[in-house]
Amino acid sequence: NNSDLQLSSLPEIASLSVQRVLSVRHWNEHLFSFTITRPASLRFRSGEFVMIGLAVEGRPLLRAYSIASPAWAEELEFLSIKVPDGPLTSQLQAIAPGDPIYLGKKPTGTLVLDTLLPGRRLFLLGTGTGLAPFLSLARDPEVYDRFGQILLTHGVRRVSDLAFRDMLEGALAGDPLVGDQALLQFRYQPTVTREEFPTRGRIGDLARDGRLFAKLAGPAQFCSETDRVMLCGSMAFNRDMANMLREQGFAEGSNAQPGHFAIERAFVD
Ligand code: A2P
Repeated sequence: NNSDLQLSSLPEIASLSVQRVLSVRHWNEHLFSFTITRPASLRFRSGEFVMIGLAVEGRPLLRAYSIASPAWAEELEFLSIKVPDGPLTSQLQAIAPGDPIYLGKKPTGTLVLDTLLPGRRLFLLGTGTGLAPFLSLARDPEVYDRFGQILLTHGVRRVSDLAFRDMLEGALAGDPLVGDQALLQFRYQPTVTREEFPTRGRIGDLARDGRLFAKLAGPAQFCSETDRVMLCGSMAFNRDMANMLREQGFAEGSNAQPGHFAIERAFVD
């Protein structure tokens, strides 16, 4: 049938498998998310990224994408920007259910629980598509066992950039694994910089003036004894937030040596 024909249209590459697009959701003209089939052999830790891509002019073109679905999910979900002349995203934004897509075989990354020391509050701070790894982590039961409170802050330019807002505002209600725990432990704090919105400003400003901590118990500032932070955004965002944390005594963690915060750059085409 037609989809088999399309599936065979991506040349075989040893380090990649060919999966199939299951669903696509366009949030606005700059942002979309999609789900693909997950091969039984693919293992990953919530928060990791993997290479995905298409054949562009006959050659595989791949980029790193954070997996937005949790480690236990049957499908893989991704969040992407649409760059009009972006080599990959200009093509990727046109995918439809049934289309073939390349998937790398070795997910990896530092936004995983293993890079963080134990703590009480977990801050998941992301801008733009930097939300993706936190969608994965926020639906992982282990996060709720390790931390008492989880705050997900999504910083965006416009209200329509707040992908998955309904699900997050509803505290992941109805999630089969974390729904009950999330209701008690999960908080969502979106912030918008270039349109009217109840919370406006950059994430760093919210941290400085205390608004970042308004929905949490405990101090209205970062505390390296009890707080753990994951950062995923633009280079400037990551740099500024990491500097702020280092000034407050936070040490960056890695897979080899866990620390107080972890960092990963969001995908940009
Ligand atoms: P702003 O609108 O003030 O630039 P982008 O789409 O450029 O990746 O930005 C996503 C969000 O991240 C925007 O709200 C943007 O705010 C914000 N942002 C950009 N740079 C920083 C930074 N260095 N620290 C905190 N937030 C930032």
